[in-house]
Amino acid sequence: MAQLWGGRFTKDTDDMVYAFNASIEFDKRLFHADVEGSKAHVKMLSSAGIISEKERDDILKGLDSILEDVDSGKLIITSEYEDIHSFVEAVLTERVGDAGKKLHTGRSRNDQVALDMRLYTRSRMESIDEALYDLLSEILKVMKENKETYMPGFTHLQKAQPVTLAHHFGAYFEMFKRDRARLNDMYYRMNYCPLGAGALAGTTYPLDREMTAELLGFFGPTFNSMDSVSDRDYLIEFLSALSMIMMHLSRFSEEIIIWNSNEYGFVEIDDTYSTGSSIMPQKKNPDIAELVRGKTGRVYGALTSMLTTMKGLPLAYNKDMQEDKEFSFDAMDTVENCLILFTGMIRTMKFRKERMERSAKQGFTNATDAADYLVKKGMPFRDAHSVIGRIVLYCIDKNIAIDDMELSKLKEFSDMFENDIYEAVSMETCVNKRNTKGAPGLNAMEKEIEESEEFLSIYNKKHLSDARKKEG
Ligand code: ARG
Repeated sequence: MAQLWGGRFTKDTDDMVYAFNASIEFDKRLFHADVEGSKAHVKMLSSAGIISEKERDDILKGLDSILEDVDSGKLIITSEYEDIHSFVEAVLTERVGDAGKKLHTGRSRNDQVALDMRLYTRSRMESIDEALYDLLSEILKVMKENKETYMPGFTHLQKAQPVTLAHHFGAYFEMFKRDRARLNDMYYRMNYCPLGAGALAGTTYPLDREMTAELLGFFGPTFNSMDSVSDRDYLIEFLSALSMIMMHLSRFSEEIIIWNSNEYGFVEIDDTYSTGSSIMPQKKNPDIAELVRGKTGRVYGALTSMLTTMKGLPLAYNKDMQEDKEFSFDAMDTVENCLILFTGMIRTMKFRKERMERSAKQGFTNATDAADYLVKKGMPFRDAHSVIGRIVLYCIDKNIAIDDMELSKLKEFSDMFENDIYEAVSMETCVNKRNTKGAPGLNAMEKEIEESEEFLSIYNKKHLSDARKKEG
């Protein structure tokens, strides 16, 4: 058992207590962040005259060698250490002797773990934002290619009015765009450095907190030291943003599962993103979409768990906060993997455009437009609504679309019908007449695509890490 305390204790820790308390199995993920934070701390200690330049250089060399050896697999992080901080410090002291013992001067594991967790979360915010960028680019590509791919738009999962595939995908573009805007907001709130807060009340050493904050790419140091060691708000915000991303992905998955069903047949998921059945040879299942939908629950779980862990904690650090890691890491992995897989699924998916258009026609999605036609010819809307209602009933009986009816037949329902009815209820007309901002009409959609493109050029793939490099 290797731990950083022991002086005041007379008995060894019980094995089960030790294992219960230890966090190395999961906080080894913080290894890179821990070394990065320690390097900044040590540079600052020497610049403030707290340790010598020689000691600084010895420690830095030692830390770099540990980094190299762990990365190359020569040195394994094992559970004989209590946590990742103990591991780094113990190996460092083995390698560089007494200088290693000075690394922790003016620092507590409380501000150290607060820093590590923040650095780690920050890097995952960046990578998840990048994955969102890739998904948005893929969605935009589908939008550009399908401005005139007509399909039914639904309310209550009943065919309602015709839209286009571009318009439908555009709705998801908006959702994931808001997700990125949310990450951007919280990034600007969280990118402050807790290092130097000590155990809870700062330290008596003349630490230069501005310097470590700058070295680590933060916008500055955090303020109140008690808050600094016990704040996990940024993690809760992140988990809430991740839950929202999963909710969006899950809705999109549900949609694709429906579209991929035999009855709809609007899309065909590529073989590489589907699986078969062990018993039913005809089956090709949309497993990836189903799994994405299914995994939403564990991400919500991480958010609920973290909120619950924090709700009863008095200031400042409490060991409960060690529970901030496992579920959060799982949520970050889950969301990033789901985003990457979902993007690949869309990239390889085939859209069966003729089926979409046929479905829109057969579902009377142009019934509102047919009623509007009669209104324009002078019929009151209520009467027009009733005439078209009777026509729809007739069509259902004959299993045809409104456009399939002969003019003479239409005239039996109202003599106001003329030849121009066919153009008035064509999918092109129904969609393209809807050109208010945000509507599916061609002109409106072109504008929407232009603005979406602009969003991606401003919020480009690296915009979060660029912000830290520029302003940090
Ligand atoms: N493993 C601990 C955590 O994850 C590190 C901080 C320990 N601090 C302490 N005072 N025991 O929160």
